[in-house]
Amino acid sequence: MREPVGKLLLFGATGDLSQRMLIPSLYGLHADGLLPEGLTITGTARSEQDDDWFRNFARKSLDEHLADDHKDAEAIDRFVERLHYQPLDASTIEGFDQLAKKLGDISGGLAIFLSTAPWLFGPTIKGLQSAGLAGDNVRISLEKPLGKDLESSREINDIVAGAFPEERTFRIDHYLGKETVQNILALRFGNSLFEPSWNARGIDHVQITISETVGLEGRAGYYDEVGALRDMVQNHMLQLLALVAMEPPARVDGTAVRDEKVKVLRSLRPITGSDVSQLTVTGQYDSGAVKGAIVRGYDEELDKDSNTETFVAIKAHVDNWRWQGVPFYLRTGKRMPERRSEISIQFKPVPHSIFAERGGALQPNTLVIRLQPEEYVRLLVMAKQPGLDRDGVRLREVPLNLSLDTEFAGTRRRIAYERLLLDLIEGDPTLFVRRDEVEAQWAWIDGIREGWASSDMKPKGYASGSWGPSSSVALTERDGVTWNE
Ligand code: BG6
Repeated sequence: MREPVGKLLLFGATGDLSQRMLIPSLYGLHADGLLPEGLTITGTARSEQDDDWFRNFARKSLDEHLADDHKDAEAIDRFVERLHYQPLDASTIEGFDQLAKKLGDISGGLAIFLSTAPWLFGPTIKGLQSAGLAGDNVRISLEKPLGKDLESSREINDIVAGAFPEERTFRIDHYLGKETVQNILALRFGNSLFEPSWNARGIDHVQITISETVGLEGRAGYYDEVGALRDMVQNHMLQLLALVAMEPPARVDGTAVRDEKVKVLRSLRPITGSDVSQLTVTGQYDSGAVKGAIVRGYDEELDKDSNTETFVAIKAHVDNWRWQGVPFYLRTGKRMPERRSEISIQFKPVPHSIFAERGGALQPNTLVIRLQPEEYVRLLVMAKQPGLDRDGVRLREVPLNLSLDTEFAGTRRRIAYERLLLDLIEGDPTLFVRRDEVEAQWAWIDGIREGWASSDMKPKGYASGSWGPSSSVALTERDGVTWNE
C-alpha cells in the first residue's frame, strides 16, 4: 500500500510531542510542498475545543518551536487551513462515530498517528474498528513506549495486529528519522572503502554513546518506571547497533533492511544471570554541576528514593561470523557533561609498525559518526608531522573530516519526525520498526533486567556532570579500551 493518504489523524494532538515535534514537522513538509495536495490533518484529544482553537494552538507551537528564518506567515496561514479538531475521550467507544463523521470520506486513505499513553492503544483501536476507521486503506503509527518488557510488548502488538496487519503498522523510533543515522547506510553501502574491513578482521571494537545533559524534564512519572535501559537502549541504541552491524541489504526497502537488522538483533549474545555484573554498569545521578549549573540529584528531583538507573553501560557481542570477538560498548545517561550521540568504530592496529624504532607510536584508525549535536563523519588517520626530524619520521593522529553541517550548509536540517511523518503519509515502512525487531530487542533487554534482579544489582551514584560511575571506565579498561571522550 505505497500510496499517499488524503487524511492524517493525530491522537494526543494537544500533547507535548505534538507541540514540539509533530506540528512543526508537518509545517516543514507543507512549506516545502511535500504534503499531498488537499491532505487534511485532524487532531484529537480530550479537550472540548474546536478547529479554530486547534489552529491557534498550532500557530503558537510554530511560533515557539520554529527557527525564525523558517517562519513564513503566508505558508503558516495556508498550513493551519489544513487543520481540524475533534474532541474525543479515547478510553470509551462513544465519541468514535462522531470522529468518523468529522473525518468524512476516507476513501483517499487515512494515516493515524497514536501519540498517547499505551494503555489507551487498546480502547483506541477498538473505537477505530467500531467506527469503520481501520479498513484496508488505513495505516497506523505508534509512538513508544511499546510495552515494558517482551510480554507487554507482545500484548500491545497483538491488540494492534487484531485491527491492522503488519504492513499497515508503522512503529516509530525517532532515531531512525535522524539524517546521520540514515547516513550509516550511505557510508557503509555507498562506498567501497569501508566494507572490506567492516568485520572482526578489521575492527577492534565499536562504541555507541548517547549522553544527555538533561535530567527528568518533568517526566518523572514515566521515567522512574522505565530507566535508561528501557528508555534508550531497548530502542535507539539497539537500532544504531543493528545498522552498524547488519549485512548489506539487497536494496533499501522495508523488507530487505529490516530483515538484515532483525538478524543482528537476534544474534545479540544474551547477558543474563551473574554475567550482568561483568558486562553491565548502572548508575544514578547525584547532585553536581552540568555546564556550570548546579543541579539536584535524581532522588531529590523525584522527591523519593528510587533504584531506577539513569545511566547504563553494556559490553555487548553479536554472535555471528562477521562480528565474532568484537565488543560493542554501549553507554547512555542523563546529566552527563555534554549532549552527544555518537558511534565510534575503532579499527585494528597495523600488523607491523615500520615506525616503531624511530619514534612514534601508531594509533589505530577510528571512524567517528557524530549524530548530534553536530553532524559529522571523522576518520582519524596517522600522518607525518611536517619537519626534518633526524630521529625519524614523526607521526601524529589527524582527522579526515566530513562535516555534514558545512558540506550541506544550504540544506535545512530537518526534524527526525519530518522524515517519519512523510514516510507514514506515503506508506514507506523502511524507517519504522517491525514487530520482530521490537520483540528481539525486548527479549535481550529482559535478560539483562532479570540478571539485575537476581543479582540484586543497584545503580551506583555518579556526580551530575560526570561520565557516569567509575565502574563504567573499568568496563572498557579491562579490555585495554578507553571511552571516546
Ligand atoms: C527519547 C527518550 O526516546 O529520546 C528521552 O524517551 C530522551 O528520555 C530522548 O531524552 C533523546 O532523543 P534525542 O533525539 O534528543 O537524542
